[in-house]
Amino acid sequence: MPCKIVILISGSGSNLQAFIDAAAKGELPASIAAVISNRPLAKGLDRAREAGIATAALDHTTFESRDAFDAALLELIDGYQPDLVILAGFMRILGADFVRHFRGRMLNIHPSLLPKYPGLNTHQRAIDAGDAEAGATVHFVTEELDGGPPVIHARVPVEPGDTAELLASRVLEQEHRIYPLAAQWFAQGRLVLNGNRAEFDGKALPASGYSFNGATV
Ligand code: GAR
Repeated sequence: MPCKIVILISGSGSNLQAFIDAAAKGELPASIAAVISNRPLAKGLDRAREAGIATAALDHTTFESRDAFDAALLELIDGYQPDLVILAGFMRILGADFVRHFRGRMLNIHPSLLPKYPGLNTHQRAIDAGDAEAGATVHFVTEELDGGPPVIHARVPVEPGDTAELLASRVLEQEHRIYPLAAQWFAQGRLVLNGNRAEFDGKALPASGYSFNGATV
């Protein structure tokens, strides 16, 4: 049976689109069972509908507490019985119970070279720090925000005169390559979380994850 994926989004869903395209090309041995957004008007929901994928919106603003939202989201996801949960620009912090429930089968992509710049405004922070390179990292989700074991990262040079928007769009191009690839590895059973380390083909991945584009700039 192919790996069943549920994808969580909050916005544009360009990473979701990369999954839809990879699946259509036969590069992802998985089926996308549903796309769920905490924002009912997220553009990514239109992308999913166009691809004929089931969608659901769970508006976090209608819940009394973070825990109540988490519990409803968990139940909604479990209804699809996914093998893998993909956070693709899902901009809500998820509580410890939720994260533990999906431990080892939930991935996130973060637009920085982790462990640098967890949280928000990653591109501006990289520019302000004078970094020569930025990038994105796919990691297993654990209770530490943006702190779970990295799976794969891609590096992007910071160009002179870069703005956060310009840099973000170049990093996004790389995100669209590495995220479906990480999911492909998971679907093939090559990528697992063993305790607190990510393993690929039975061997521990480097602390910063597999390096998609090799040498640093
Ligand atoms: C992506 O850059 C992703 O890395 C980032 O949000 C963007 C979503 O874009 N995620 C986070 O910042 C999570 N902390 P998309 O909706 O076009 O895929």
